[in-house]
Amino acid sequence: MFYLTTAIDYTNGSPHIGHAYEKVLADVIIRYRRLRGDEAFFLTGVDQHGQKVQQTAEKEGVHPATFVKRTTKKFLSLWEKLGVEYDGWAETTDGRHKACVQAILTDLQEKGELYKKTHSGFYSVRQEQFLTDRDRDGSGNFGPEWGEVVELAEENWYFKLSEHTGWLKQYLETTADAVIPSFRKSELLNAVERNSGTDLCISRPKERLRWGIEIPFDTGFVTYVWFDALINYVSFAGYRAAPDAELPDFAGLWTTDERPVHIIGKDILVPAHGIYWLCMLHAMGFPDELMPRLLVHGWWNIRGEKMSKSLGNIIDPAELADKFGVEALRYYLVRDIVTGKDSDFDLDRLVMLYNTELANELGNLCNRALNMSQRFTDGLITRGGIFTDADLELQTSLSEATDAYRVAMDEFDVSKGLEALGRHVVHCNQYAERMKPWELNKDPEKKDRLATVLQHLAESVAHCAVMLSPVLPAAAAKLAAQLNLPHLAETGLPDLHWGLIPEGHTIGKPKPVFPKIIIGEDT
Ligand code: MSP
Repeated sequence: MFYLTTAIDYTNGSPHIGHAYEKVLADVIIRYRRLRGDEAFFLTGVDQHGQKVQQTAEKEGVHPATFVKRTTKKFLSLWEKLGVEYDGWAETTDGRHKACVQAILTDLQEKGELYKKTHSGFYSVRQEQFLTDRDRDGSGNFGPEWGEVVELAEENWYFKLSEHTGWLKQYLETTADAVIPSFRKSELLNAVERNSGTDLCISRPKERLRWGIEIPFDTGFVTYVWFDALINYVSFAGYRAAPDAELPDFAGLWTTDERPVHIIGKDILVPAHGIYWLCMLHAMGFPDELMPRLLVHGWWNIRGEKMSKSLGNIIDPAELADKFGVEALRYYLVRDIVTGKDSDFDLDRLVMLYNTELANELGNLCNRALNMSQRFTDGLITRGGIFTDADLELQTSLSEATDAYRVAMDEFDVSKGLEALGRHVVHCNQYAERMKPWELNKDPEKKDRLATVLQHLAESVAHCAVMLSPVLPAAAAKLAAQLNLPHLAETGLPDLHWGLIPEGHTIGKPKPVFPKIIIGEDT
């Protein structure tokens, strides 16, 4: 089982383009894995507890439970709109999750992994957190961003994180795909070095925070939001659902045949996923071969700046989908960012990439393959005559594109996968321009040659429809319908072969699938 998760989004606000990218990327990867023939499960959801939610709910004068119900709906409706099809939905206020978090806390307490101690130090009233020397500015003071800073002593529960960092270092050093892409692993290893002596405070006194999961053996406290949220990956996979289940069968989805993949943004690798979560799993008894792989993506920025409410540059994905179409947005999100790196969100590029790669190149190929077949051969697709060098080159180009697509997609590099398909589409259009089916049609002697050329173009469209389906499921379905090949929807990567269109097949009615985006006054 290929088990894929994304970060669960904070419900203290509305979803933006960064959230949308991560979920679309996961949706594309899961659809691709199914196309490959793998059994796959995709979990996503929302992070509903914590200080930020409590504060925003208070500002709006509603109970946090009412508030998160309302904001959760915005995420749910966005995923539906963008065609993000998940198999499991994680909400951290769900009873199953709460029970699992409490069971894990009890297990860790029984194993001696937790302890209680009083911490005294400087506390930011505004940010509601203890500060460390690292939070001081150049002149050794706590800057104005922290608001009023007071000295405070507070008792809390701690997880013996420092007892696991030796293991973590060795695990990261010896596991090639622990963090993808690998340059992020170096960042993580540096952070592990810096952090190795500190334990993790995993509780908050209820006087300070009520909106959380109660510590089962000390009810004056709730669980720290990160400790709670990270557990979603196992709680919704069935971990501790049966109280005495043993490793490795404990969590139906979390199996040994393929290690799970967590898709996360670069901001939550250190320390949350790369240190806390891996050490928590290790303390829970997860062996190395069950450790998840962390697929770390970069950020979408706006003209080099971070998206933020205060800068007023937040991009609403629902609005963009309404304006440009869901598939144009999906395509842009996975095409214009290399998995792992940052990118600048740019509407001109969205329109340009859609118009050149989909409307012009692919649209042109579809038009030639489908429209010309309809006009010149009544939609009948036949092999025609003997294959020429140009035909064989086109077949080679297709098989090379298919191989390159597979390699890239297996490495979660969707942009590179799309680029590989794009190369073949360009090859097809150049082939059409050289073969000139519109000229061949004028000469009754060249009927066979015309049939061969059209067959090569139509066969390419059929292949593209299958391989593009993870990114553009609706367009792929339309192409399959126009080709009159409903079985393409069930065609997996292993079934791809020259001859997807049977000899003597008649295609359906062609209709443009990628209409050009015209920038008007309102766009
Ligand atoms: N709730 C935590 C995650 C808990 S996972 C156990 C959180 N939530 S978040 O809403 O702030 O972010 C959710 C995801 O969106 C994170 O992976 C984050 O990196 C990603 N993004 C947030 N802004 C982003 C961009 N501007 N660009 C790309 N992804 C970004 O962190």
